[in-house]
Amino acid sequence: MSNKELEKNEVFVRTFGCQMNVRDSEIISGLLRAAGYKIALTDKEAKIIIFNTCAVRQHAEDRVWSLIGSYKGTKIIGLVGCMAQNYQERAFDRDASVSFVIGPQDIHKLPEVLSKITHHSLLERKVWETQGSIRPEEIYRTGFHQDQAHTQIVISEGCSNFCSYCVVPYVRGPLRHRKFQSIIEEIRSALDSGISRITLLGQNVNAYQDGDLDFTKLLKAVNALNGLEELGFFTSHPKDVHLEFFKAINELDKLTKTLHLPVQSGADRILKLMNRGYTRKDYLAKVTSYRKIVEGGTLTTDIIVGFPTESKDEFEETKALISEVGFNGAYIFKYSPRPNTQASKIVPVILEKEIQKRHLEILNLQRAISNKLKHKHAKK
Ligand code: 5AD
Ligand code: SF4
Repeated sequence: MSNKELEKNEVFVRTFGCQMNVRDSEIISGLLRAAGYKIALTDKEAKIIIFNTCAVRQHAEDRVWSLIGSYKGTKIIGLVGCMAQNYQERAFDRDASVSFVIGPQDIHKLPEVLSKITHHSLLERKVWETQGSIRPEEIYRTGFHQDQAHTQIVISEGCSNFCSYCVVPYVRGPLRHRKFQSIIEEIRSALDSGISRITLLGQNVNAYQDGDLDFTKLLKAVNALNGLEELGFFTSHPKDVHLEFFKAINELDKLTKTLHLPVQSGADRILKLMNRGYTRKDYLAKVTSYRKIVEGGTLTTDIIVGFPTESKDEFEETKALISEVGFNGAYIFKYSPRPNTQASKIVPVILEKEIQKRHLEILNLQRAISNKLKHKHAKK
């Protein structure tokens, strides 16, 4: 097939889930653009649809299956990302219109897989690439950025924390740190292309390590780069944040004074069952320290309601913690059992009706707190 014909193969990349997936979709688009494909802006003109998926909650998976079904076999469908890793070859049984399945560690193989399918009319064949564990550094050098002013930079891949409810360590593999110098080079080249705002990304950015270089040192080095106007980062784990890091947030002039610090629960027994590595008291002490050091800093969090065996009193403890801290914002999730995880084996589970009730209660509580804080700031 000539290059001209290849260009006709428009690909539409549809992204689900977290910021890591948003960045992975840019990488996918960059790799495919370099291989001669046209990246479509909508699904209409595209012959190939890539679903870059999330497996963190069942709900996200259900949506993808229903969307894949809606194409009724009219497109070449690729299941990519965390759900691909979760389902592996079972994806082909679940929906026969899926042509290829590629896990998050194997996205660099996409051009090769697509070429097999489109060049050699392997449409009837199913291609499955979910075995890898390491992504080559080159994937970060495609120069593809959706937004010309802002981009996200991956500093570490995977996670080894094994929070008992979480599927991420199983689908994205163990924690791997990118080299300090590679990260700086990627940022330098993004800044040279006109981007001025950067967000550093990792499942747990505070665990970053390259020899004796840690996350605080990385923040300082990035903050010093010419052409950078604003710097953010996402996500922090409470067990790994400390005084030096808070001081850096306060001192570095380009750093946004916001911290997303997922607490998940306010009850010690549940935190232990979740394998989070901190107690309610530890968490509150870190919040106090952050607030003391980072003047005017905002704080957001994640909460899971209805973790297996969570009692009414323990749920009340989470509500009390939310009120005590006064988060500027919070993502409230209903617990969703995930394959392979330790939590999925804990019984008894909380009934769906009760989970819904707790979810709504915390949503309302947080909404009231967020509004109150917004008004307070507006009055200043
Ligand atoms: N069920 C519900 N919420 C979950 N999260 C992760 N795994 C699950 C699960 N099995 C939430 C956590 C995490 C956020 C990204 O998603 O709150 O911080
Ligand atoms: Fe999942 Fe915990 Fe890792 Fe976050 S830190 S990705 S919740 S295992």
